[in-house]
Amino acid sequence: MSEPVLVVQDVHQAFSEGPLSVQVLNGVSLSIARGERVAIVGRSGSGKTTLMHLMGGLERPTRGSILLMGENFSAADEKLRSRLRNRHLGFVYQLHHLLPEFTARENVALPAILGGLAVAQAQRAADELLDRVGLAARRLHKPSELSGGERQRVALARALVTRPAVVLADEPTGNLDRETADAVHDLIVELNESLATSFVIVTHEERLAALAHRRLVMDAGRLLSD
Ligand SMILES: Nc1ncnc2c1ncn2[C@@H]1O[C@H](COP(=O)(O)OP(=O)(O)OP(=O)(O)O)[C@@H](O)[C@H]1O
Ligand SMILES: [Mg+2]
Repeated sequence: MSEPVLVVQDVHQAFSEGPLSVQVLNGVSLSIARGERVAIVGRSGSGKTTLMHLMGGLERPTRGSILLMGENFSAADEKLRSRLRNRHLGFVYQLHHLLPEFTARENVALPAILGGLAVAQAQRAADELLDRVGLAARRLHKPSELSGGERQRVALARALVTRPAVVLADEPTGNLDRETADAVHDLIVELNESLATSFVIVTHEERLAALAHRRLVMDAGRLLSD
């Protein structure tokens, strides 16, 4: 067995505003294997996005730790965290978050350029991923010229361009109609299997959760397996 790519160890998270403190995560532990596809479901407000932010190193837990590719991610300073994030993680959000003034190719190439790849190489990598998601012919189009499903395909290509160990996807098809969402679900499975990239997917869609190797339920800040 190879080492897990991402490990969450007894993570707690509280948010405090003035005298008010909200305890959002109450001891979450989770280990993601290489190539694994894990779905996290659960009621609104149960803490799913909070956990994704911690796994993405966007925030630090109040207690507990997160290891990314064997490194103590949650204890690292901001500079190291952003380097580890760029090297090992990809992100897909409910709203595509593509840069409107950039073409599909430029949007996809950007994380690779930020990771230190030369522009020409990054563009080649972007073109390859856009081809894989079926959008080779649309690479010079801007997000406003693409459909919702096409934008999410570009977002998937962008998440994968650096060949990360793990893609964190928070409701990646939450804004799409059923048919378009199903096509994106199939694409996620295909990319997960062909690239051996692990996926952690937060979703309200049972059809997507059913495609995962493992389905976990977030309930009041605790993670239950089923
Ligand atoms: N920065 C913050 N400050 C205070 N409370 C917060 C903060 N971020 C999240 N919360 C609270 O933490 C709880 C969990 O929020 P979170 O966004 O993780 O839920 P979720 O499971 O992703 O819900 P949804 O399915 O609606 O996206 C909510 O009660 C929310 O109000
Ligand atoms: Mg959420």
